[in-house]
Amino acid sequence: MDIWHVRGGSRLFGSCRVQGSKNASLPVLAASMVFPARSLIRNVPRLLDVDAAVSILSHLGCGVERGEGELYIDSTGACATQIPRELMEEMRSSVIFMGAMLARCGEARLSLPGGCQLGKRPIDLHLSAMRAMGAEISEEGSDIFCRAEKLHGARIELRFPSVGATENIMLAACAAEGRTTISGAAREPEIVSLQQYLCSLGAHITGAGSDTVVICGASPREETDFTIPGDRIAAATLACACAATGGQIILSGAKSDHFLTVLHFLNEAGCDIIHFNDIVEIRSEGRLRAPGSIVTAPYPGFPTDAQPILTAALLRAEGSCRIIETIFENRYRHISELRRLGADIRVSGSEAVLRGVKELHGATLTAPDLRGGAAMVLAGLCAKGETRVIDAGHIARGYEDLDDTLCALGAEVWIEHK
Ligand code: EPZ
Repeated sequence: MDIWHVRGGSRLFGSCRVQGSKNASLPVLAASMVFPARSLIRNVPRLLDVDAAVSILSHLGCGVERGEGELYIDSTGACATQIPRELMEEMRSSVIFMGAMLARCGEARLSLPGGCQLGKRPIDLHLSAMRAMGAEISEEGSDIFCRAEKLHGARIELRFPSVGATENIMLAACAAEGRTTISGAAREPEIVSLQQYLCSLGAHITGAGSDTVVICGASPREETDFTIPGDRIAAATLACACAATGGQIILSGAKSDHFLTVLHFLNEAGCDIIHFNDIVEIRSEGRLRAPGSIVTAPYPGFPTDAQPILTAALLRAEGSCRIIETIFENRYRHISELRRLGADIRVSGSEAVLRGVKELHGATLTAPDLRGGAAMVLAGLCAKGETRVIDAGHIARGYEDLDDTLCALGAEVWIEHK
């Protein structure tokens, strides 16, 4: 248990390099065992979720060495086909190992994944796609047993552009006979970097970033050297923090194109933003105007992961705005906590209406999940006095040293480890 202490009132100034992307790292780590190969993966963030993926890789027989921001993975010896429940429950991305194990070993024994409780989060799209490629799957309670003599190509139409299902299919299809076409695929930047990684190991994949991804097996290579892109949600978090507190910061390391929708809203709210490639400069007076409606959507729409973050940045904005969450059924659990600071937000179903208030005051909050926790730290930066965020390790699952980063920009944040 950690308690984040945040003393509000400081404006943010300076420059910082954004961490490597959590959501790009996790599928690449799972993909590292699809072929017997040695991978040097750079710009990997130090996160609890990355630790969980490394534990799974080691359990499955891979050699993993860590360097500064790097992982060296040797999957030539990977042979195990079962992941214990406790490792599966550590995060949602553990489910991506289903495609990796089926591709590598033709068998996978696992259980339902864990991760942030944002709604039902079924894996029906993952299972039906594996079945379409010829896997036999039996489910007993939360246990899942998948087996395939030989996977074959398939035409897979996703009823929703699920990020995880698209990634799982890409991994399994690398070892399938023939051509696999995913239509209605997720278009997130993480899908593009996964294609780049798999192709660097000899896979034949095209179309990532569009809604149609085509995989035609692979001519496996034995080694690769791959760099993870910067984290667009971590960058959006720092941009929103500066917007809300006021100040001027320069972010480097995350492509601005990858979080343009967030920058668009910050600009509409009154921030001056200059961006080019992976450099973003934000200037804010700290007195924002409420922008138009914020509706979350699959990429390139507004990211659901930034919804709690932008909400927190707008708590003292002039005027009011509507927020509509379309991806997850239960992604407003941070709202009742933000109200303890004096925020004025009303939720009804998938819609929240925020009315800016003049002032927020410190209080004790409990983090319900990763992005909700980060949103509370951000709101605490704008509140009078001290805010305490009780966090069961959610924030460290997705942010590398967020406290140090904010302090380096002039904030007063410290963590009490209990
Ligand atoms: C990824 O989760 C991200 N996680 C999430 O970020 C992100 O919120 C989400 O994509 C949406 O952008 C990682 O990349 C590790 P989905 P994922 O499958 O893959 C439904 C964070 O904070 N669905 O695209 O689990 C599902 O219930 C995390 O970093 C099915 O119905 O998301 C949800 O409503 C939180 N059946 C929607 O699709 C399925 O088989 C989107 O889920 C799969 C998904």
